[in-house]
Amino acid sequence: MEDLRYSPETLVFGADYNPDQWSKETWQEDIRLMKVAHVNLVTLPVFGWAQIEPREGFFEFDWLDEILELLHKNGINFNLATATATPPAWLVRKFPEILPVDFNGVRLEYGSRQSYCPSSPIFKEYTRKLASKMAERYGRHPGLKFWHISNEYGDHVSRCYCPSSSSDFRDWLSAKYATVDAINQAWETKVWGQRYSHMDEIEPPRRSMGPNNPSQLLDFERFSSDAMIELFLAEREVLRSITPNIPVTTNFMSICREIDYAKLASLEDLVTDDAYPDPSDPRHHIIASLNYSMMRSLKKDRPWLLLEQAPSAVSWRNVNVPKAPGQMRLMSYHALAHGSDGVMFFQWRQARSGTERFHSSMLGHTGEDSRIFREVSALGEELSQVGEIVGSLVKSKIGFLVDWDSRWAMRAEESLPSLAYDYMTQLLSWYEALFDINAQVDCVFVTEEFDKYETIFVPTLMMCDVATSRKLEKFVASGGKLVVGPFSGVVDANNGIHPGGGIFQNLLKATVEEPWPLASGENQKISIGEKTYLANTWTELLTSDADEVIAEYASGPLVGNPAVTLSNFGDGAAVYISCVLEKSALQSIFSTVLRVPSTPEHFAEFVTRSNANFDYEFVLNHSPEIVSLRVNRGFDILANREIAGGLRDLSGYGVIILKRARESASERQ
Ligand code: GLA
Repeated sequence: MEDLRYSPETLVFGADYNPDQWSKETWQEDIRLMKVAHVNLVTLPVFGWAQIEPREGFFEFDWLDEILELLHKNGINFNLATATATPPAWLVRKFPEILPVDFNGVRLEYGSRQSYCPSSPIFKEYTRKLASKMAERYGRHPGLKFWHISNEYGDHVSRCYCPSSSSDFRDWLSAKYATVDAINQAWETKVWGQRYSHMDEIEPPRRSMGPNNPSQLLDFERFSSDAMIELFLAEREVLRSITPNIPVTTNFMSICREIDYAKLASLEDLVTDDAYPDPSDPRHHIIASLNYSMMRSLKKDRPWLLLEQAPSAVSWRNVNVPKAPGQMRLMSYHALAHGSDGVMFFQWRQARSGTERFHSSMLGHTGEDSRIFREVSALGEELSQVGEIVGSLVKSKIGFLVDWDSRWAMRAEESLPSLAYDYMTQLLSWYEALFDINAQVDCVFVTEEFDKYETIFVPTLMMCDVATSRKLEKFVASGGKLVVGPFSGVVDANNGIHPGGGIFQNLLKATVEEPWPLASGENQKISIGEKTYLANTWTELLTSDADEVIAEYASGPLVGNPAVTLSNFGDGAAVYISCVLEKSALQSIFSTVLRVPSTPEHFAEFVTRSNANFDYEFVLNHSPEIVSLRVNRGFDILANREIAGGLRDLSGYGVIILKRARESASERQ
């Protein structure tokens, strides 16, 4: 695929825009206020299909022509959605089989959005037709900056169990395994007497009388992710052929389990994300930080773009807590710190009716004289002054492995030693411990080479195939440091157990004899030197001839057994942590591995974006309280003044961006 890039000249600032919901007088008002707010890019018409094609083959583009002209005349660019996110009612009524079917076999009714089965050949064909109409009409418009295909694949419907999906699933299996015997072998269908004699006997893992076959479940997850990627590719192909120079994206839903984003990102030109951290969650900044680390890591050679965030409250949680004064600004800088080349919102003007009428917008029901509009306009103004950071990147020598196969293998429908040991919870707890010792990480994916990293953290990797385990061995043998968490290397690519106690026995010099999950609320002690810490949720009975036992179980049935081990392997070393540990224990182990001081919990984050000439160190205070921080010297580009290094007070939700010429970049004093 050609390497197309979206390289804005300055930071992007804008929102989703739904002009079809408003009168032409309101459009004039929108343009005036967009200028006040420094909006330079809008997204439209995401849900516009029914307005563009109200009857089959009858297109009404006039309204879109007019608003695009108006935006362009006023210096506002746009990314055009292909408008395929929701099919019009006429299409669904003509072909009811487009509607998705859930796990229970229930066909879902029209009346919300995203009402399609990702494998429907009819739906796919109609999306291609609309994408081609859009590309032919607007592909040469000077205001068009990139294509935005569909919207948030996998939102609402990510797994469909209808006949089209069954048939596509069988095709997918045939392409992967060639014969039904190979499927029987891969899925070990002798267990519970599930042997198939013919491909046509295979169906998606719908609701059954008991647990479904785990290998079938895993393949269905992979297939479903691929089905959405195929749908994306069908539109991308049309756009590429008509507008070969316009970059293409589809907006992601942050760290989502539904789609393998590493795979999908490799097929688009620009990574865009919709991020909605919950301000009421005390750890929302940690979750956001992990998400942004992932977004910037999906394409490591270019910035990404925050395509949606809420100016204040959303409307889809049980309780939708607003962002406190100053918090939206800080949260925007958070994404910028991690390499986003701009900040966009959902949405420009708050809808008067419909599902999202209580969702905050840049311009709310009370108009321009409002807290939110004042805050977003001030941010727009401020960002227009710091455009020099555009294009710069965050780089790290520490990798943090994220893997969809393992996440899917640990799904709740599975028969596992403990459903309380959750993939995302484990990832977050390791990420939080690294965050607290100021270790910025890149996310890495099993398809990548690992050699640019000095240390790789693998919080958990239940599914590990031979190729990945060899890559990890090579990484350590050539001097890398590896830290592996519990329940890793347990199953192969077919979700069958690696015999003998895991695929990492050689590398870790440790064999898991028995997983030993803890009952709800149960803790056991581990000792590291003189100190004891608590393990919860998960422990393991290990047999180990490791070079060092870093920690032992100090209570319960595993007392005296190794809990954390270190094995020297070639020129490097691998640490294995066999249990879920409280944060202070993880911090103590991680800071020793990284040779950095262990610090008490804090709410500050340091992230550096760099270009050829300058480093831009962002210092972010995620708490509402003043914090006292040790910072480097540098030129604060927001305050427009030189700052001496040393202890400084940073206000609640405060941010500073310290610019330093690259050659003089100093260590934190
Ligand atoms: C998603 C969608 C938007 C909107 C927002 C609301 O991100 O892409 O259309 O519904 O959620 O938070």
